[in-house]
Amino acid sequence: MKVTQLECLCLMLLHLLHTAGSERFEVLGPTDSIVAVAGDDIILPCYLKPNISAEDMTVDWLNLDIIDERVFRYQNHRIIQDDQIPSYRRRTSLFKEELWRGNTSLKLTRVQVTDEGRYKCFIKAKSWYDDFTIQVLVKAVGSKPVVSIEGHREGGMGLLCETEGWHPEPELVWLNSKGVHLSARTLEIHRDFKGFYRVKQHVIVQETDTNRFTCRVQQSRINEKMETEIHLPSQLFDPTPWKISLIVLCCLGAITVIGLSLAIYCICNKKDDLTEQRDDLKKDNNDLIRKLDDHNGKLEILTSQLDFVNTNWSPAFETIRRHAVDVTLDPDSAHRNLILSDDGKQVRHGELDQVLSDNGNRFSNWSSVLGNVGFSGKFYYEVKVEGKTEWTLGVVIQSINRNERSRPIPYNGYWTVELKDGEYTAHADSPVTFTPREEPQKVGVFVDYEKRQVSFYNMEAGSHIYSFTGCTFTEKLYPFFNPGGSDSISLVVCPVDVTD
Ligand SMILES: *[C@@H]1O[C@H](CO)[C@@H](O)[C@H](O)[C@H]1NC(C)=O
Ligand SMILES: *[C@@H]1O[C@H](CO)[C@@H](O)[C@H](O)[C@H]1NC(C)=O
Repeated sequence: MKVTQLECLCLMLLHLLHTAGSERFEVLGPTDSIVAVAGDDIILPCYLKPNISAEDMTVDWLNLDIIDERVFRYQNHRIIQDDQIPSYRRRTSLFKEELWRGNTSLKLTRVQVTDEGRYKCFIKAKSWYDDFTIQVLVKAVGSKPVVSIEGHREGGMGLLCETEGWHPEPELVWLNSKGVHLSARTLEIHRDFKGFYRVKQHVIVQETDTNRFTCRVQQSRINEKMETEIHLPSQLFDPTPWKISLIVLCCLGAITVIGLSLAIYCICNKKDDLTEQRDDLKKDNNDLIRKLDDHNGKLEILTSQLDFVNTNWSPAFETIRRHAVDVTLDPDSAHRNLILSDDGKQVRHGELDQVLSDNGNRFSNWSSVLGNVGFSGKFYYEVKVEGKTEWTLGVVIQSINRNERSRPIPYNGYWTVELKDGEYTAHADSPVTFTPREEPQKVGVFVDYEKRQVSFYNMEAGSHIYSFTGCTFTEKLYPFFNPGGSDSISLVVCPVDVTD
C-alpha cells in the first residue's frame, strides 16, 4: 500500500491532537474566600477536573500579593524548596496520598496575619496547564478593651480605652449609658511587626445621672464585638474634695518615706565602709566585662562586614549600577519642615513650619520624605550629600509608623545609615558607629531583595560603607531621605549614567 506524504502529515496531526486532548483538565477550587483564624491550620482546596492523577505534573502555589510569590512547588515527584518564600518554609504541604485522584489542595499550618492574600494554584502537565485563585482572609480577635481613668481634663474626666491583637483593623467607639456615641479624639492605630493591630482612644466625659460609660471594640467583617463598662463615682467629678484627699494622701506618703529613709540610713551607716569597698571592686569588674563585650561586639561587626565585602564585592561595580531606578520624592509624605524642589529631586530643611494638608501619609515624627515608588527585586540609586553635616538615607517599608518616634531599626521597618555630629551610624538592631576612610560626597544605595541585603557605597571612592545582611522583607521598600536640621543644603537624587 502506498501512503502519500499528505496522508502521512494528516495522521501525525491527528495523533498530536489526540495526545494533547487526553491531557486537558480544569483546575478548580472554592469561589468564596476562605477565612482563617490566626494560629490555626487551614486547607486551601484545589483539584483537577476530570479527576486525573497530578502525580506527574508540576503543582505551584503562589501568593500573588508577595513579590517572590512562591509558597510551594511540587515537580518531578519532589518538593522544590529553592525559591520558597522563607516565611512559608516548614508550614506548607500537599496531601501526597491524594495526588493520584487530582487533589492538589495545600495545607498551611500556624496561619499568620501576614498570610492574608490571593493564592494561585497553578498546575502544569506536559502540554496543558490551568490555574485557580483563592482569596484567604485572616482574622484575629484581640483583647477585651481596657479602660483607664486619666484624671481631670478640660472641665471633664479623661478616659482612655485600649485593645490589641486584632486583624483586620477594628473600630473603637465610646458610648454613654443610653448607647449614644460620645465624640472622642482621633483613633490611634499601631501595627506590630506580626501584623496585629493595637488601637486606643481618649475621650473626655461630663457627669451624667448614671456615670456609666462603655468602650466598644468591633470588627464587622469578622463579626466580633467586645465591650468594657466603667462606672465613675460622682465624687470624682467634684475637683475640690478630690484635690484635698490627693494632698492628704501625698503628705501621708511623704511622711512615711522620710521616716523609713531615716531608719534605713541609721542601720546602713555602720556597714557602709565595707560595702563601699566591695561595691567599688564590683564596679571595676563590671566595667572590664562591659568593655570586653563591647570589643567583641565590634569585632563581630567588622568580621561580618569583611565577609560581606569578600563574598559580594565583585570588581564589576557596573553591574550594581545597572539596576539603577529613577527616584522622585513624594511630596505627600514630606514632613512640614521640608522643602522639596519642583522636579522632586532635591530636599532640604526649611526654617518655617508649612501648613500642609494631613493626608495620612505625611511624616510627623521625623523630618523625612519617601520616594514615590516602592521596589522589590534589585534596585539602586545615588544621592549627593556633599557639604552636608547631617543626613539619614536608606530604605523603609511603606507601613512604618509616621507619627510616633520608635527606634528607626530593621525591627521597625527601617534600614538606614545616618551622619550626625561627625559620626556615622548604621541603625542595625543594635546601632553600629563607624568612621569611613573617606567622607562620602555621593552615597549609592543598593538593595537586593532576594538576597535580603541593603548596601551603602561611597560612589566616588568606589568603596563599601555598610551592608545590612539577612534582612527580613515582607513588603515593598521605599527610598527614605532625612536631610537633618543642622544645615540647609539639599540632598540631591542624582541620575545614574550607566556606562558600557
Ligand atoms: C473520579 O470521578 C468519578 C466520577 O466523576 C468517580 O466515579 C470516581 O470515583 C472518581 N475517582 C476518584 C479516584 O476519586
Ligand atoms: C483533598 O484532600 C484533603 C485531605 O484528605 C481533604 O480534606 C479534601 O477535602 C480533599 N479535597 C478534595 C477536593 O477532594
